[in-house]
Amino acid sequence: MHKVFSNSIYKGSTLFTRTSGGSVCKRDYVTKKEKKIKNILSSAESGIGDDKKYVDVEYSSYEIHKPVLIKEVLRALNPTPGGIYIDTTFGLGGHTRAILDSCKDCYVIAIDRDSNVFDLTKDLRSKYKDRLITLQGNFSNLSTLLSENKLDKLEISGILYDFGVSSYQIDSSDRGFSYRKELEGPLDMRMNNQSNHSMTASNVLNTFSEKSLRDIFFVYGEEKHTKSIASEIVKRRVNEPLLMTSQLVNVVESCMPYPAASKTISRIFRALRMFVNDEIGEIKKGLHQGELLLKEGSPLVAISFHSIEDRILKRYLQRGVNPEKYGDESEALYLPSFDPHPLYGSGAPVYPSPEELKWNPRSESAILRTAIRNSNPPLPFKDI
Ligand SMILES: C[S@@+](CC[C@H](N)C(=O)[O-])C[C@H]1O[C@@H](n2cnc3c(N)ncnc32)[C@H](O)[C@@H]1O
Repeated sequence: MHKVFSNSIYKGSTLFTRTSGGSVCKRDYVTKKEKKIKNILSSAESGIGDDKKYVDVEYSSYEIHKPVLIKEVLRALNPTPGGIYIDTTFGLGGHTRAILDSCKDCYVIAIDRDSNVFDLTKDLRSKYKDRLITLQGNFSNLSTLLSENKLDKLEISGILYDFGVSSYQIDSSDRGFSYRKELEGPLDMRMNNQSNHSMTASNVLNTFSEKSLRDIFFVYGEEKHTKSIASEIVKRRVNEPLLMTSQLVNVVESCMPYPAASKTISRIFRALRMFVNDEIGEIKKGLHQGELLLKEGSPLVAISFHSIEDRILKRYLQRGVNPEKYGDESEALYLPSFDPHPLYGSGAPVYPSPEELKWNPRSESAILRTAIRNSNPPLPFKDI
């Protein structure tokens, strides 16, 4: 991958700089990230031993940003010295921070498709130095991301997914994820809003056919009243394109009375967000990438927030544990690639405790599922 900075081009670890006369000179240059990668590789080779310093977290240490099911995530991952963990949904780093604090010598490779989060988490990189590497990208593309950064030879001790959008994204009015009046903004909804080739929610609403809009609302939002809403969108956009979140809220309000409208507004926003970001495709591919990367005995831990995500996760883990029962006939010919987690069983759901719900009501719909990768070959990727 080549990065271009004004007059300079990086190719691997070499910086080519254009001089004032226009010629190009070459200079060896070790970037901060490459130094970190060297360190993580040599520590992983030497193995630090099993002198584990486990620190149980207190909710009170996470007052600013509240990571969901944090105690259960740490119990399931059980970070150990020298272990390398992938946080596929870094966000503002709540879970990453807890993993790094829970065990003094473990490492985290943290990934997020939203490039904005990396500027907001500089303090974490300064604090944890070589123990934290952050990479921008999609978790569906995990193996490529690791190999592009020369991290593909590492043995991965655990992988975490915390699906959906973060509170930071929802509460930023310029992102268009929220239907709240005080957070009015453009109908964007792209998790990576710096990418200029992906489609926004506004593009979908103003160009898709009425039938396609109905399908999106039904499939991704599990919404039943799709006919009147899709038809109202198509009628209104002839005179004025839908550009702002308040316009979409108005459409639904004109189709049904409150209180029914509140649930429908929330479902329509969720449906558009999931479609714009291909969240279902990402989850299916991302889980399979985790299965390929995890070393034997290591946990896959995932948190979902609604029934569509959770259905995929549950089926995926149970298919891994018992293909005969949950897969189709051809899958029954494969050996299961996950074993039940000793603490949480075979993908059984784990919910927030009453204590957590009191501390963070936003965790209400969270469901955690986990299983342990075994030594059998990975199942082939098929639509899950
Ligand atoms: C629920 S938040 C995670 C919060 C995080 N665990 C924390 O404690 O701060 C989900 C994050 O995952 C990112 N994300 C969602 N889908 C992704 C994907 N397919 N690949 C990479 N990142 C993704 C979002 O941009 C968002 O920042």
